[in-house]
Amino acid sequence: MCMSDHLRLVLTLLCIVTLITARRLDNHEMKRHESECPPGVPFVACFVDPCSVTECPLFPNAQCISNYCGGCYADFYVDGKLVDCTVDTGVSGDPHMTTFDGRKYSFQGLCWYTLFKDCSSTNPDFEVTTMFEPREDSSFEHVKTRTVSINITVGNEYAIVNGLDVVTGKTEGHGTAAQAINVQHEDKKIKLSFISKDTKFTVNWTVKKHILNVSFSGNAYNNKLCGLLGNADGDTRNDFQTPDGAVIRDAVEFGESWKVKGKECD
Ligand SMILES: *[C@@H]1O[C@H](CO)[C@@H](O)[C@H](O)[C@H]1NC(C)=O
Ligand SMILES: *[C@@H]1O[C@H](CO)[C@@H](O)[C@H](O)[C@H]1NC(C)=O
Ligand SMILES: *[C@@H]1O[C@H](CO)[C@@H](O)[C@H](O)[C@H]1NC(C)=O
Repeated sequence: MCMSDHLRLVLTLLCIVTLITARRLDNHEMKRHESECPPGVPFVACFVDPCSVTECPLFPNAQCISNYCGGCYADFYVDGKLVDCTVDTGVSGDPHMTTFDGRKYSFQGLCWYTLFKDCSSTNPDFEVTTMFEPREDSSFEHVKTRTVSINITVGNEYAIVNGLDVVTGKTEGHGTAAQAINVQHEDKKIKLSFISKDTKFTVNWTVKKHILNVSFSGNAYNNKLCGLLGNADGDTRNDFQTPDGAVIRDAVEFGESWKVKGKECD
């Protein structure tokens, strides 16, 4: 073969590769995912179907769905909910977080974080922050933290919960659509609730076990919440949203993005 034959062969190969790439992009399956990428996250053409090369031993029955948004990812779902194949939420992680949409993850925060707040305006109707501190069985390699305090601020009212102590009061700030914070002591539990627009939020705090259980009824804040518990739009895939609105994949990076600025803890 002379040089020009070589060149032609290379060009032909390049041409075939280009055709294959173009065909892949034409694929309906991939188009479907493309339109589902969150705003600002580019659709990526992958040469291997991510699900064909990934396993999730922690959840052997999980369904794999390839995700081409911002990279070549294999996303695993159990009962329609995204699961984290790298974290055994049942064993190693504490606190175990579950977003409003049902995504489970493990995050070891220290100090104050936004648990959830109204994200529909720069003047939120309410904000709930919690403080995490290290547990006694925490070690340098395995930091374990737990919730010790809660700060519920609704309009110009607040309730600061510290163990079984609850301090309520009013600030000079504005009132909002939200109504009074209701505090009930029940045995070793504290139940806090408030109503904003058509929605009632309930925060149940089991003091000894450091378990916080949050729920809400109503529709006004669907897809309008943000914080460690996600946006409550019914979709587990976009729950890791940072304060600037970016959807990310890393639980630690997501958790840290919700650290309350300017708060110091010992
Ligand atoms: C409680 O949270 C509100 C806003 O979320 C903040 O302005 C206030 O300083 C906090 N109070 C305490 C005691 O942390
Ligand atoms: C939290 O609340 C839900 C719904 O009411 C309930 O199913 C779940 O068992 C509760 N979890 C804890 C730890 O109390
Ligand atoms: C909170 O506790 C009350 C009973 O005290 C219960 O009816 C409600 O379902 C609980 N909510 C959550 C989110 O656990």
